Amino acid sequence: MAENNQNAVAGKAAAKPKPAAPGAAKPVAPSTAKPAAKAVASNDGGVYKPPVDRPATNPYKDSRSSSIGAWFNERFYVMLPIIEYLKKKEVPQHRLSMWYYFGGLTLFFFMIQVITGLLLLQYYKPTEAEAFASFVFIQQQIPYGWLIRQIHAWSANLMILMIFIHMFSTFFMKSYRKPRELMWISGFVLMLISLGFGFTGYLLPWNELAFFATQVGTEVPKVAPGGALMVEILRGGEEVSGETLTRMFSLHVVLLPGVIMLALAAHLMLVQVLGTSAPIGYKESGMIKGYEKFFPTFLAKDAIGWIIGFGLLVYLAVVFPWEIGVKADALAPAPLGIKPEWYFWAQFQMLKDFKFEGGELLAIVLLTTGGILWALVPFLDFKASREEKSPIFTILGLVVMAFLLINTYRVFAEYGW
Ligand code: HEM
Repeated sequence: MAENNQNAVAGKAAAKPKPAAPGAAKPVAPSTAKPAAKAVASNDGGVYKPPVDRPATNPYKDSRSSSIGAWFNERFYVMLPIIEYLKKKEVPQHRLSMWYYFGGLTLFFFMIQVITGLLLLQYYKPTEAEAFASFVFIQQQIPYGWLIRQIHAWSANLMILMIFIHMFSTFFMKSYRKPRELMWISGFVLMLISLGFGFTGYLLPWNELAFFATQVGTEVPKVAPGGALMVEILRGGEEVSGETLTRMFSLHVVLLPGVIMLALAAHLMLVQVLGTSAPIGYKESGMIKGYEKFFPTFLAKDAIGWIIGFGLLVYLAVVFPWEIGVKADALAPAPLGIKPEWYFWAQFQMLKDFKFEGGELLAIVLLTTGGILWALVPFLDFKASREEKSPIFTILGLVVMAFLLINTYRVFAEYGW
C-alpha cells in the first residue's frame, strides 16, 4: 500500500523522466506522457499501481459539496467533465416542443415494465402445465397481483403507442438528420425489440387466444426461402407447444431485456451528448422562443408527464382489465376471429389482402424492404442533412402513417377490439 502511494501527495509535480535506456524509443515530454505508461514503467514490484497519482486529501471536498458528494466525486472524478457538460444541456422551446415529451414517456412505461415484470416473475411458471394456473394464481391469490398484472399488460400497450408517437414526431421534425443518424437507428432497433417483447409476452399466459395467435404469427416466415427453418426455431418444433413457451419466455425475460439495455444506453447517451434538435429553419426564422435547461427544468416537466401517464395507466388497469381467457388446448379447434395484438394489425391486414398466388411472399418482401428503407431514412434524406426542407420525406412519412392507421382500422372494423 505504502509503496503504491509513494507519489500520492496533493499537488506534487510530475517526476522528471528517467534517462532512456539504450535503444529505447524517444522519451516523451513530461506534460504529454501517458500516466498508464508511467505506472507500468515504475511498477517494478509487480504490484498494480493506479495510473493516476491520487492526492492524500480529497481535492473535491469544498464548501459547496456535501461530504457524500465529495466522496463520490473523488471516486468518479473521470465523470465530472461529462456531468458539467450535461448540466449545460438545453432544450429549444417552440410551437412543437410538446412532442419532445414522448421519448421520456416511452422510457417511463419501459421502467414500469421492468419493475412489474420482475414482480410477476416471482410467481409465474413458464411451463405448459403450470403457466395458465400461475396467472390465475397471481390474479386471484396474490395481494395486488391482479393490479401488477394489469399494469404490466397496459403499460406494454402504452409503451408501444408512445414509441409510435415518438417515432413519427421525430420523423416529421426531421430529428434524424445529421448528426443524429444513430439516434434514429438505435431508436429503430428499440422499436423492433419492443415489438419482440409484445410478441413473446403474448403467449406467456398460455391462453387460447394467445396460443392460436402465436400459431398464426410464427407461421408467417414459412413462405420465405429458409422460412420453414425459422418457424421451427421460433416454435422449437413443428407446432406451437410447451417448447414454444420456453422459447418465448427465455426471449422475453433474458435475451430481449439484455439487448434493449444496450440499445437504450446507446440511444439515451446520444440524446444527452448531441442534445435536442429543433425543426429545420426554426432558428433562422426566429421561431425558437428560448431555451430551457434540461436539468432540472425539462426533467421536471417530463416528470409531470410521467405522473399523468401513471394516472392513466392505473385508471386503465383498474377500469378495463385484460381477460385471462381459457387455458390453451392444442387439440381444440381454433376459435373464430384470431388476430394478433393491435400493433401488428397493419401487417396482418396486408398479408390478408395479398392472399393470391405468391402474394404472401410479396407482402413479406415489401414489408421488409419498407422497414429497411425506414431505418435508413437519415442517410437517404440528403436535403434534411443539409438543413434544407425535404417535403418528399414528409409525404413519405404521411403515406407510412396512413398505411398503418387505415390497415389497423380495417382490422378493428372487421374483428372489433
Ligand atoms: C424504447 C424506446 C425509446 C425510448 C425509451 C426513447 C427515448 C428517447 C428520449 C428520452 C429522447 C429525448 C427526448 C425526446 O426527444 O423525446 C429521445 C430522442 C430521440 N429518439 Fe427516441 N426513444 C425510443 C425509441 C425511438 C424510436 C423508435 C425512434 C425512431 C425510429 C427514436 C428516435 C429518436 C430521435 C431521432 C431522437 C432525437 C430527438 C431530437 O433530438 O429532437 N426513438 N428518445
